[in-house]
Amino acid sequence: MAHVLITGGAGYIGSHALQSILAAGHRAVVVDDLRTGRAEFVGDAPLARCDVGDTAALRKVFEEHPPFDGVLHFAASTSVPESTREPLAYYENNTVASLRLLGTALEYGVRAFVLSSTAAVYGNPAQLPVTEEAPCLPINPYGNSKLVFETMLADTAANRELGWCVLRYFNASGADPDAALGDCRQPASHLVPAALEAACGLREQLELYGTDYPTPDGTCVRDYIHVTDLATAHVLALESLLAGGDSGVFNLGTGCGVSNRAVIDAAERISRRSIPMIEVDRRPGDPAELVADATRFGKRFGWSPVHSSLDEIVETAWNWMRRNRGVS
Ligand SMILES: NC(=O)c1ccc[n+]([C@@H]2O[C@H](COP(=O)([O-])OP(=O)(O)OC[C@H]3O[C@@H](n4cnc5c(N)ncnc54)[C@H](O)[C@@H]3O)[C@@H](O)[C@H]2O)c1
Repeated sequence: MAHVLITGGAGYIGSHALQSILAAGHRAVVVDDLRTGRAEFVGDAPLARCDVGDTAALRKVFEEHPPFDGVLHFAASTSVPESTREPLAYYENNTVASLRLLGTALEYGVRAFVLSSTAAVYGNPAQLPVTEEAPCLPINPYGNSKLVFETMLADTAANRELGWCVLRYFNASGADPDAALGDCRQPASHLVPAALEAACGLREQLELYGTDYPTPDGTCVRDYIHVTDLATAHVLALESLLAGGDSGVFNLGTGCGVSNRAVIDAAERISRRSIPMIEVDRRPGDPAELVADATRFGKRFGWSPVHSSLDEIVETAWNWMRRNRGVS
């Protein structure tokens, strides 16, 4: 049984990972300042409400719950458009605060560090599906703020007894099948919950950004991976590192591209409501197509997505929205 510090464990993906870590028989403490997360997502696990960039507060957590074997680091600022408006805030939270967390984790002898990273580090990839060997050329401060910390982590661990995994998720989506956890950011920033908000009148209309991309239906294509499949991947990565497995960078996706229009169609079908929509210009910083080659993680860990069909993603997100936002 491992003892794990989970930063951002009150957030969307981190809370699902917390449940998977506990279900696998490990113990966990969550650090989250609740800027977007929810205390109730943490359940009975201890929650330290503090900023991961606050070294004094973090040291207190390490002193009060010794020792931690591993860290799962989810805490971050996550909106691409916001990052273009406020780049320094993104470097402060995703890079500088992460650096402080890493330093503190090393001080206290942590052996394994798993970082939530993102397909945004690839920018506009020249080849699809995107492998981990593709050049990292982020086109927004969010992707860059993550990439800089990826490099810091690998460089730092090279001289230390620290195993690490960088997990680059593609589009995290869906919700816990019991509808107890889900994406609670309001208004929704990602397409699946935004489409469902429009379906049930929680937003006036859905903005469809760009219909002239060089894709089969003209809208952006993305790779949607269910949050439960991501959670399972974190348990595998952590356990492998603690057993002495190699460090590395891994994509997490399904390898299947789904267009924005296909997501909207599925949201209408599953919610049985029509979605008021307006077609607007492309959004700066949105690549036409992003699809993962996740073969490396699959082969190494025997993992494959089992909950990531478009219907299961939309259905679990819909159930969560109905329960969480009081939709009848
Ligand atoms: N949602 C996606 O599609 C997606 C895709 C790729 C990568 N990611 C990465 O996954 C991770 C989790 O994202 P999410 O979608 O669950 O977002 P989220 O906003 O739901 O979760 C982030 C959590 O971290 C907390 N937090 C943020 N900054 C903090 C700080 N300085 N100190 C303490 N707590 C802090 C927030 O309160 C929140 O609970 C992030 O690192 C994000 O970059 C997400």
